[in-house]
Amino acid sequence: MNITFAKIAVPAQGAVVFGVPEGTKSGVKLPPAAAKFDKQTKGALSRAIKAAEFTGKREKTLVIVAPAGAKVNRAVLVGLGNPKTLDETAAERIGAVIYDAVQRDAAAAVILEGLGGATATVAGLAAHVGGGAALKSYRFTKYRTKEDNDAKPRIKTVTIQTDDPAAAKKSYVAVGAVVAGVGITRDLITEPANIIYPESFVARAKDLAADGVKIDVLGVAAMKKLGMGALLGVGQGSVRDSQLLVLRWDGAADKKAAPLAIVGKGVCFDTGGISLKQPSGMWDMKWDMGGAGIVVGLMRALAQRKAPVNVVGLCGLVENMPDGNAQRPGDVVTSMSGQTIEVLNTDAEGRLVLADVLWYAQDRFKPKAIVDLATLTGAIIMALAEHYAGLFSNNDALSEQLAAAGKAVGERLWRFPMGDEYDKDLRSPIADMKNIGGGKAGSITAAQFLQRFIKAGTPWAHLDIAGVVWNEKGTALAPGGATGYGVRLLNRFIAENYEK
Ligand code: BES
Ligand code: MN
Ligand code: ZN
Repeated sequence: MNITFAKIAVPAQGAVVFGVPEGTKSGVKLPPAAAKFDKQTKGALSRAIKAAEFTGKREKTLVIVAPAGAKVNRAVLVGLGNPKTLDETAAERIGAVIYDAVQRDAAAAVILEGLGGATATVAGLAAHVGGGAALKSYRFTKYRTKEDNDAKPRIKTVTIQTDDPAAAKKSYVAVGAVVAGVGITRDLITEPANIIYPESFVARAKDLAADGVKIDVLGVAAMKKLGMGALLGVGQGSVRDSQLLVLRWDGAADKKAAPLAIVGKGVCFDTGGISLKQPSGMWDMKWDMGGAGIVVGLMRALAQRKAPVNVVGLCGLVENMPDGNAQRPGDVVTSMSGQTIEVLNTDAEGRLVLADVLWYAQDRFKPKAIVDLATLTGAIIMALAEHYAGLFSNNDALSEQLAAAGKAVGERLWRFPMGDEYDKDLRSPIADMKNIGGGKAGSITAAQFLQRFIKAGTPWAHLDIAGVVWNEKGTALAPGGATGYGVRLLNRFIAENYEK
């Protein structure tokens, strides 16, 4: 689907969309272009508004099919709410509901008069309306050999009316970069595990070379040399070789300046290993590489918008399988940090992978800060459902920056406590630690485990995203399935805090 910006009037076909500011009790006031259309159609809009009790509430739509006296297939009214409080994220969500209303027409003209509040420029808001429509239009249909024609979206172009198309197009460069990033993240997450495994994940990520991202890959032999016994132990039951993928975007003026490191859990399939999971729902574990998928999408977004910042993205890619060569419950492995781990539950594998990748990230890149993303625990879903991801950190300032960015883009984070009381749960009788806690506060003990691989003085945050990577019903900006959660959040976090 194309997103374009132009000075346009009501078209002669397809759909026309009018933005309507929220009204008072005495009714809504149509902006000039909508009022003119209403007159031309002898009151089609005002009659529908009355009948449907449409008030212009933000994100509400009212569709009038084939209005008499006009040539369009449908006229859509979209509620803008109070235009003064309309920010970029609100604009994206409005774009998403517009997409849903017009997707069965071949083209749509979007006329949102009165855009431009206190927080963003008119051009920026127009660009984000386009971005929201593009995000919501995501489809993954490559494995369908036939599709019901009635359900198929037809929309080819959404044109957004603006007095300054050049400025909107310019704003859309950065918005489109994020849309592209979210797109590759969703693709990687949606692909089944027979298609995306560590080596094929790396092959896909190599597409980012075209964006100017530098790519390094460590195979099993290189990781063995570095002593990554924790990560390699997880992958040893799989016929697929484990991989450590390193993506670098050095966009800062000083290319040698210490980077920010973003680390993703990339368990391409998590059977649980010898501590095998229940069959029911095990298919969800194809998206246990969601953290790594976000890292790839974020790096694409940063590179395509040429962000003035140095960021290194690291993906620990493994497959957790039961097999004659798989690790056993009770095995002791030695991590790259030198610390030993008693693996009591082979299904607590994400933390083992991250232990070595976090250590490597610090050892090799001396980053300013590290943020990791991982579908780490089922317990975080019990605590927060799909509405927030869990935030765990050793640094208040970093936590606040992340939470603020999440709030701004509608990908919310909730911080959990950490402390010695929880860390004690990880004591092992024969090794430096075990890989599970005592059964209570499982998301926190998992975070405590990770913190044992963070060097003193490194600001670090862990995002437990098990509840937010996949959403069957869809979210404001996603059609259902892989949400792409995290790309917009981290893009915002980096833009606000690391690009000055
Ligand atoms: N990948 C899972 C966590 C998960 C569960 C993600 C559901 C998404 C949806 C993780 O590897 C896991 O199995 N965690 C265990 C840890 C336990 C054995 C300590 C869990 O949460 O049950
Ligand atoms: Mn697991
Ligand atoms: Zn897992």
